[in-house]
Amino acid sequence: MTLELIPIPSDTPPPDRRIVALLDEADRRIEAFLGERQNRSTGGFVPSDFDAVYRVLRWIEDGHLATGTAFLEWGSGLGVVTCLAATLGWDACGIEIQGDLVEQAERLAEAFDLPATFVHGTFIPTGDDDVGDTLAASAWLQMGGSDAYEDLGLDIEDFDVIFAYPWPGEHHVVETLFDRHAAVGALLLTYHGLEGLMLRRKAGGRMRR
Ligand SMILES: C[S@@+](CC[C@H](N)C(=O)[O-])C[C@H]1O[C@@H](n2cnc3c(N)ncnc32)[C@H](O)[C@@H]1O
Repeated sequence: MTLELIPIPSDTPPPDRRIVALLDEADRRIEAFLGERQNRSTGGFVPSDFDAVYRVLRWIEDGHLATGTAFLEWGSGLGVVTCLAATLGWDACGIEIQGDLVEQAERLAEAFDLPATFVHGTFIPTGDDDVGDTLAASAWLQMGGSDAYEDLGLDIEDFDVIFAYPWPGEHHVVETLFDRHAAVGALLLTYHGLEGLMLRRKAGGRMRR
């Protein structure tokens, strides 16, 4: 594995009013969505800590830590993190396997006039199905689905920052895909529930830009 850990400071400033409004509306929509699904499975959708994620994205932007502005969320759920990335002026895309979540994400971006792109499909590239071989039968990560990169017209190596909230026991999938396909210098930001966020950079070779 060629991922270098980048320590995240604990004193990142809180989001401004525009972001707070987006987060409040996202919370309202997520509550309504989960309420509607009440007796059905959420298909593995659980929201991350958007305030905490935004602070790190902002810190990456302010510190010019990324090699560029191409952002991708793996398993974008209601699209909140992708929308937050778009508020920073980044070219933000989200890939989500559940079609109704993709629709919700598009509506959220539209409500805040944010130029985010959402694709219905899988973030696991064609030919990488072996990453699911060691997953437990109860895994939330879904295998199969259409190749989202074909729809996007972009590959993993085209992105400067990738965000994911993998379930416990499924982290290795995200790390393996990032290590295999991301460009040298790209950043991987992951959310780990109570353990918070982790930021890593793909190391080795020559960095872009
Ligand atoms: C734990 S949720 C996180 C949602 C969102 N990233 C957030 O931070 O709120 C994981 C999401 O990944 C989606 N997912 C699972 N397997 C996927 C796959 N192979 N490709 C794309 N999305 C997937 C689920 O439907 C779910 O919405």
